[in-house]
Amino acid sequence: MKGKNTPLLINILHEVQDKQGYISEQALKKISVEQNIPISRLFGVVKFYTMFHTEPQGKYVLEICGSPSCVLNNGMKLEKFLENEIGVRIGETSKDGMFSLYKTSCIGCCDEAPAMLINGKPYTNMTVERVKLLLKKLRKSKKK
Ligand code: FES
Repeated sequence: MKGKNTPLLINILHEVQDKQGYISEQALKKISVEQNIPISRLFGVVKFYTMFHTEPQGKYVLEICGSPSCVLNNGMKLEKFLENEIGVRIGETSKDGMFSLYKTSCIGCCDEAPAMLINGKPYTNMTVERVKLLLKKLRKSKKK
């Protein structure tokens, strides 16, 4: 039956990513052997879902919502601010390993747009000032 392993595979990939922060090539090879799934198929699945990462991620993964309500409520301004402030483009991780920046689709907080996620936790009604304060707080946490 086509795709019968897909839900299980997604759970396995989530588990690996939760433990390691990303899904390494070595982990994909191990899953391929254990689950008897061609590595090319695994790679296709990992690349299809934007929630999976094949490279090490920053301590803080920032995901700015790129769906209409947020974009129309200054989401693009926040995106540009974040890129400039962190010194990366969407999809990249800062050199100091603190931040990875992504764009995500709607996170269900449209009534409090613009919204973003930081390590999966939603932050809403964002402004450049609020983002500035958050980044300052997150950078301080590095010293702990
Ligand atoms: S459009 Fe951004 S949270 Fe829904």
